[in-house]
Amino acid sequence: MAKLKTKFACTECGTESPKWLGKCPGCGQWNTMVEEKETVVKTQGMGSPLIQTKEKPRPIIHIESGQEKRIETTNQELNRVLGGGVVPGSLILVGGDPGIGKSTLLLQTSHALASKNLTVLYISGEESVRQTRLRADRLGALTDKLYVLCETNMEQINDAIESVQPDFLVIDSIQTVYDPNVQSAPGSVSQVRECTAHFMRVAKIKGIATVLVGHVTKEGAIAGPRMLEHMVDCVLYFEGERHHTYRLLRAVKNRFGSTNEIGIFEMGEEGLREVNNPSELFLSERPLGVSGSTVVAAMEGTRPVLVELQALVATTNFPSPRRMATGIDHNRMTLIVAVLEKRMGMFLQTQDAYLNVAGGIRLDEPAVDLAAAVSIASSFRDAPTRPYDVFFGEIGLTGEVRGVSRAEQRVREAQKLGFKRVIMPSKSLKGWTPPKGIEIIGVETVAQALSIAFA
Ligand code: TYD
Ligand code: MG
Repeated sequence: MAKLKTKFACTECGTESPKWLGKCPGCGQWNTMVEEKETVVKTQGMGSPLIQTKEKPRPIIHIESGQEKRIETTNQELNRVLGGGVVPGSLILVGGDPGIGKSTLLLQTSHALASKNLTVLYISGEESVRQTRLRADRLGALTDKLYVLCETNMEQINDAIESVQPDFLVIDSIQTVYDPNVQSAPGSVSQVRECTAHFMRVAKIKGIATVLVGHVTKEGAIAGPRMLEHMVDCVLYFEGERHHTYRLLRAVKNRFGSTNEIGIFEMGEEGLREVNNPSELFLSERPLGVSGSTVVAAMEGTRPVLVELQALVATTNFPSPRRMATGIDHNRMTLIVAVLEKRMGMFLQTQDAYLNVAGGIRLDEPAVDLAAAVSIASSFRDAPTRPYDVFFGEIGLTGEVRGVSRAEQRVREAQKLGFKRVIMPSKSLKGWTPPKGIEIIGVETVAQALSIAFA
């Protein structure tokens, strides 16, 4: 007879405790500990099947190397984020807000793979097969190698995997699946953990590339135990502004590739479309010749993107002026404002300053500093910069402009989009030949950059 155990687990982070607590010691959230009754079943444990095979340690030079085999999807953006395609036997977790387009993305990917003659099994625990069919009609995702099942019971899902023998498996979503041997509700911490461990074993043993869709909590992390992220091979987040049509797919963990890459999609009537030229999209609504607007050449992973930065500086009604930044680190903005005040003598203490990265993308690299400084100065002076100028460079506390990486790629992207001048750190001019047809101005200080921008 299996032993019945009671414990309490946090629904946000998965921390467990033998007694109830008002505040989770793991993540500090209140009222998130819930009781879970768990039958202790003898599972094989979550150890990977690789460990269970009786292999002897081998000298590393005797292990065959070579590239991971990959299944390329027809979707270039998805391939990019995954590091070149889906690795057979890998377990991928895709998280994102409800309604962002996770099911759409995976159904389209399933269709693309099924059209390449792979067998795909799509398990939907949230929508009926009819709803999935309706969506597939809309997306034009009808192929006979794409199997759909509406099921949440793990044992039934296992049977389906046995009978279909898929190459690619989608579980939409992991929070709806339950293992009848575990006596807590679907979506609870132990259910999510057990089911994920199970899918991991299936993926590794059968070599099925498996995608789990995960819900996110209000903090934006994937719901369920934090451990989930450690168990899987890749964690992708699908994000975007609800009111914008485009979506970003970002890897936060990838055992088979880099985590710097993002994929950009646009949601349309026929589902998600890849955006191969993001700069054009981000600049499409740019007003020309308006003060406070500049263009930065930023890097998203290995890809340069040109994005518009907007600043608004206006007299404050508050005792202490407001500093608000969207899409860029708030502390970075405060620093830039302080440099402009101290080194450039701009009197910003009585001014509210807002800085916005247009289009809802997030820019995390310091190379956006210079464009941000020029934007703020432009709005403060109410003087527009030239519409075909591009800026990039990091700003130091003494007002110096510091070098940044990949200057050449940024310049080439600016040239490709028809920009006429690039104002950039002179330190980044070494080691490459600037292309012809675009004027490149190296600067050492913010003061120099401003005098060129407003000349
Ligand atoms: P969905 O994939 O159901 O989101 P998730 O699985 O992440 O919850 O996406 C639903 C949204 O996408 C919904 O608001 C409608 C929109 N949508 C389109 O705009 N075009 C389409 O072709 C499809 C299928 C959905
Ligand atoms: Mg969905």
